[in-house]
Amino acid sequence: MDSIKVVGGAELNGIIPISGAKNAALPLMIASLLTDETLTLSNVPRLRDVAQLTQILQNHGVDYSVNGKRNGQDELEGQTVHLTAREIVDTTAPYELVSKMRASFWVVGPLLARCREARVSLPGGCAIGTRPVDFFIDGLAALGADIEIEAGYVVVKAPNGLKGAQVVFPKVSVGATHTIMMAATLASGETEIVNAACEPEVVDLANCLKAMGAEIEGAGTPTIRIQGKPRLHGAHHAVVADRIETGTYAMAVAMTGGNVLLQGARGDLLESALHTLRQAGAEITEEANGLRVRRNGNGIQAVDITTEPFPGFPTDLQAQFMALMTKAEGRSCITETIFENRFMHVQELARLGAQIHIEGRSAFVDGVGTLRGAPVMATDLRASVSLVIAGLAAEGETSVSRVYHLDRGFERLEDKLTRCGAQIERISG
Ligand code: UD1
Repeated sequence: MDSIKVVGGAELNGIIPISGAKNAALPLMIASLLTDETLTLSNVPRLRDVAQLTQILQNHGVDYSVNGKRNGQDELEGQTVHLTAREIVDTTAPYELVSKMRASFWVVGPLLARCREARVSLPGGCAIGTRPVDFFIDGLAALGADIEIEAGYVVVKAPNGLKGAQVVFPKVSVGATHTIMMAATLASGETEIVNAACEPEVVDLANCLKAMGAEIEGAGTPTIRIQGKPRLHGAHHAVVADRIETGTYAMAVAMTGGNVLLQGARGDLLESALHTLRQAGAEITEEANGLRVRRNGNGIQAVDITTEPFPGFPTDLQAQFMALMTKAEGRSCITETIFENRFMHVQELARLGAQIHIEGRSAFVDGVGTLRGAPVMATDLRASVSLVIAGLAAEGETSVSRVYHLDRGFERLEDKLTRCGAQIERISG
């Protein structure tokens, strides 16, 4: 298993190109199941989760091709992929594939809407809490599906097609919003999603579905209305910039000091996190082609945060922010409200000398002057990158094992950081 070796102490200076968002690319690829025409997606990041989803879609009969490198094209640009689901050959998404990535469960919506049936394994994914699928099941039932759970599979049927209805989510769920929105595009009549997720990735999916002929209003607000259509068609869509990758590198610069342009980043997609980083002492300015993050000389101040659905502070940046707070002046309180088991990085950060104690859903971080490198273990996708960031600011060498978590969601992490002066390398083995 590969590990990543970081020798801390170097400032970050230079340019980091921001990739297309993993969390947008995945539902966008799944949307290809809704039409027999080709969906072309550009700015798709090269990630393990994307490769994994490709395998799942191919199993349903989707033809997948990637553009080769064009003359003059920067090797750092995202890839352009073509997905064509001319015929759905299999409506089962098997356990062996779905268990590796929770988002693959979302195929249930498009498969049911287009083929009137689907059999999808209950999901796996990051170990950050129980992550049930009750909102999906209740939502699809509201659209008229018959649903049974059989031997670890969700079996859904709607022999006469789905019918538009009101779907009220008890709590904001990104995945359930994506899934019901996709299913409703091919239902008859109007669907209203109440308490919908407002995340930028939902807006990106809605924009793509509209380009495919769907009629959707209100994406980005808590109420989304969809007028169902008999069919959708092909389209071309560019994946939105990754706000979590943006926030992660912004926190890395805040931690090490230096001056980095996050090229292609969109500040409007993470205002809450940027506001918090400014309070902590980072200088962040919008430029024509991205966001510039600087921290020169001054220390990091402790700031309290609570994770919330968009536009609040994202749970996917909680671990990285905690890493930053380990070196802040004073005590910060970090409260996690989205997932119940998302503090697994705490004991690993403690191995580097961080002072953190957990009380219920809050972690209290007492900033220490110095972190010291140590061997640590990645436990989930975002936790693993928090260990890399901490390693960049620690004295000596940190080695992060189980980095396959990182490869799920961060494109060319070592390469991007090395180009900015970090001492970081992948050790194969
Ligand atoms: C997505 C993101 C993930 C992010 C999360 C929250 C992708 C691929 N993943 O995950 O990176 O951390 O949003 O912003 O986009 N819930 C239920 N029942 C359900 C569905 C969800 O109780 O049927 C709960 C979950 O357990 C959790 C909360 O709702 O407590 C929010 O989860 P959700 O927004 O659904 O997360 P994902 O879509 O899986």
